[in-house]
Amino acid sequence: MTTLDSNPRFFDLVGDMRAMRRLKQDPVPQELLDRVLEAGVKAPSGMNTQPWAFLVLREPEAKKWFADRYKAAIHSRFGDFEIPEGADSPGARQGRALHYQMDHMHEFPLLLIIAGLRDWPFRVPEDERKGLAPPNYGAVYPCVQNILLACRAVGLGAALTTMHQVFEEELHERFGIPEEYGVVVTMPIGYPLGRFGPVRRKPAAGVTYYESWGKTRSSP
Ligand SMILES: Cc1cc2nc3c(=O)[nH]c(=O)nc-3n(C[C@H](O)[C@H](O)[C@H](O)COP(=O)(O)O)c2cc1C
Repeated sequence: MTTLDSNPRFFDLVGDMRAMRRLKQDPVPQELLDRVLEAGVKAPSGMNTQPWAFLVLREPEAKKWFADRYKAAIHSRFGDFEIPEGADSPGARQGRALHYQMDHMHEFPLLLIIAGLRDWPFRVPEDERKGLAPPNYGAVYPCVQNILLACRAVGLGAALTTMHQVFEEELHERFGIPEEYGVVVTMPIGYPLGRFGPVRRKPAAGVTYYESWGKTRSSP
């Protein structure tokens, strides 16, 4: 369903909210975007500082600018990463989806840039604070997750991407992003071409210990 009122059950939604890298070109209605961003800003943050800010790119020229640099950034880090024809492993399927995302980034209806105010973590003593502080990742990621889940809830597909780090200075300059913010995530959003989930994850029981590290619930 793709309406404002769609309300899938929470545990179904969280179980099939996978990275949607193939998106239709149809525009994202403003009221859906508003709903999604309102969900984002409901996230918790230390002392309720709410250190996030959003930049929405919809203009073709802006998206093309971003897409060109995104592609170059991927090639600079991973080369051509060709996927063998016929390969059908989860890794191969993900690789194909990443290729699609990279090649079609400029056609997606909306790129959401999610930025965070820079803030030194407590563990860095004042006299060791050199250069720019990192953006407040701890606060921005709950906001990012709320946005991903809200997209899923209203029937939109989205994928969290982070390759902008390779050209972040240019990104700031091109779109006038102030230095006190760092870009945390760039998220293409649109109606999905494929189906949602289910996500593949190791069970929580395999990474959960009780009373001391390594002691599982069934340990003697
Ligand atoms: C910190 C972080 C960085 C990520 N960076 C990217 C990225 O640059 N490009 C991308 O397509 N997906 C990115 N993802 C999405 C993951 O690749 C994806 O969630 C993971 O492979 C599991 O796939 P699924 O969510 O579809 O089940 C990132 C996720 C996280 C949490």
